[in-house]
Amino acid sequence: MRVLGIESTCDETAAAVVETDENGRPHILSNAVLSQIAQHAAYGGVVPEIAARAHVEVIDHLVARALDEAGVTFDELDAVAAAAGPGLIGGVIVGLTTAKALALVTGKPFIAINHLEAHALTPRLTDSVNFPYLLLLVSGGHTQLVAVRGVGDYVRLGTTIDDAIGEAFDKTAKMLGLPYPGGPEVEKQALRGNPERFALPRPLNGRAAPDFSLSGLKTAVRVEGERVSPLSATDIADLCASFQAAVVDVIVDRTRAGLRAFREVAARPNALVVAGGVAANGAIRAALHQLATESGLKLVTPPPALCTDNGAMIAWAGLERLRLGVTDDLSAPARARWPLDSVKAEVPAEAEAADAETPLPADKPLPEKPHAAAAGPSA
Ligand code: KG4
Ligand code: ZN
Repeated sequence: MRVLGIESTCDETAAAVVETDENGRPHILSNAVLSQIAQHAAYGGVVPEIAARAHVEVIDHLVARALDEAGVTFDELDAVAAAAGPGLIGGVIVGLTTAKALALVTGKPFIAINHLEAHALTPRLTDSVNFPYLLLLVSGGHTQLVAVRGVGDYVRLGTTIDDAIGEAFDKTAKMLGLPYPGGPEVEKQALRGNPERFALPRPLNGRAAPDFSLSGLKTAVRVEGERVSPLSATDIADLCASFQAAVVDVIVDRTRAGLRAFREVAARPNALVVAGGVAANGAIRAALHQLATESGLKLVTPPPALCTDNGAMIAWAGLERLRLGVTDDLSAPARARWPLDSVKAEVPAEAEAADAETPLPADKPLPEKPHAAAAGPSA
């Protein structure tokens, strides 16, 4: 099976081709990504209108490149998948419409993918992780702890009640005069700073519900910065180190709470998976590694190129759905908000029967139906 995946929900335009071999093992044939970071840098964040226009300008080239690098033609695809949300609606429409048009003219099945689902299923592409597992998704737009029980079977255990963790890194960097995106800059500064100089809060630590809150921490950095201003290079490094230390403590405590909450909705997790741009942070990875070891779990961190937004994860999620017989019609809408635990995989009856006779090489998703839709923000 071979699927083209298109991603355009934020500031990366991406297209990729992923296939499974006769043993069901996945192979990424191409993974073309074009980042718009340079176009947004002057504004210190992603500007939706600039993003949508930039997607339009490059998407056809990227699809052509993805097919070219994969060495396949449209005829050799089994389906076309695109992220249908959640994300910046102008950008989502660009990728989704492109995929629908391609599916229409080639007569191939079309699959609308939830962007968060694609992040959630990535460890199965990179590390063949079996269901169920605990996913910590941490990026500029998402901060979630999710019990991944099967394709279309996700339970969001916790999320942020205000800022995403990557966003907190970016805002902290901006306050301290560091360039966008702020995460890598803050990490660099933190390496030579004193993490104990500023006493910063660890919001929500100790609470049973595995939620996050970052805005109070961000404000505390601002207040401390104003107190010692004008800031020397040492002050900036110390503020970054203190901020990062607080984030690490928060992530470890909240993920521990997530592991406890996991027990109530699924069997023992097969892994702790951390994905999203923030997962590139060395201090966060090291702390999570220690937590996983203490908990007797394997820590899975997909390589950075597959952790940040990319087309391969969309193609892979499409493939996971296609092999269950789950496709969409061309009326599938673009969605700015689309909570992960409202995502389902309606397996057609005949596909389910065929499935029972020939089990998939990867573990089978749970047949029972996903949880009820949750209202509220997608992040
Ligand atoms: O997954 P991603 O590329 O895009 C989405 O937001 O969907 O994540 C980007 C986020 C940014 O907020 C960036 O500052 C953060 O990930 N980030 C980091 C690091 N590298 C990227 N945060 C902390 N430490 C890093 N090394
Ligand atoms: Zn993402």
